[in-house]
Amino acid sequence: MSLILFHSPKGGVGNTFLAAHCAMELAARGHDTVAIDFTYQATLKLFFGLLPDQPLVKAGDPSGDEIVVAGVELFDGEELGRSAAFRQLLRQPGAQPFPTDKVIVADIAAHDRALRQLLMPHAALHVVPLVPRPAALAALVHVDPDIPLMELERTALVLNMLDDTRTLARHSRVFLTQAFGDMMAGSVRRDESVAEAMAGFDSLAKLFPHSPALGDVAHLVGVLEQRAGLVAHEAQASA
Ligand SMILES: Nc1ncnc2c1ncn2[C@@H]1O[C@H](COP(=O)(O)OP(=O)(O)O)[C@@H](O)[C@H]1O
Ligand SMILES: [Mg+2]
Repeated sequence: MSLILFHSPKGGVGNTFLAAHCAMELAARGHDTVAIDFTYQATLKLFFGLLPDQPLVKAGDPSGDEIVVAGVELFDGEELGRSAAFRQLLRQPGAQPFPTDKVIVADIAAHDRALRQLLMPHAALHVVPLVPRPAALAALVHVDPDIPLMELERTALVLNMLDDTRTLARHSRVFLTQAFGDMMAGSVRRDESVAEAMAGFDSLAKLFPHSPALGDVAHLVGVLEQRAGLVAHEAQASA
């Protein structure tokens, strides 16, 4: 199993947007991909072009008919994430909370760091979306309550909503790359077509296949694949 967590200590930074589009890109690259929305806002499905009132199968419910969009199996994990039995299972070392033959993308709400903490021991990678704004950068120190940011392992920072015409955005990227080195996995441009696709209840890839943000996500997923151990490292591959 390869569990990839998407969680940021700051809300509104594109956590759900990135979880959804990275899941679609992972599926496009041939990974058997599941996306679980652990948030109560339930907005993950909107990025797949589904309507707000479209119910998803509840994660952990064997009786439901699965919904597959763009090659990704979508689940509503809100109830599962709150369930005491599930949280207890996650506390057990060596537990296998998810199917072992799939890549699981988990969208975790900013306020739910407790769930991030419980899932982290089972995760291959934690993706932390950021935006080039002071409050989001300041919140970085809260990624983990116990481990200093510089010492975090299996962590990938992603600068989202990057606008290169803005000084703070350009400087943020330089600063993060210099300060965090390899922990910075990539950046995704601010792209107005993201909101336009959402407003039309359609998927970005269908309405705006040449969206710059989508191109950036594709590049980012190449990096995440390696960090999560889904492909051999380039050095190993070419050896
Ligand atoms: N790269 C981007 N360019 C433009 N808009 C974006 C981008 N990423 C996210 N958004 C928009 O920003 C808003 C917040 O994104 P969302 O994924 O819901 O954030 P979070 O899950 O962190 O609260 C949404 O309206 C989303 O469509
Ligand atoms: Mg969200």
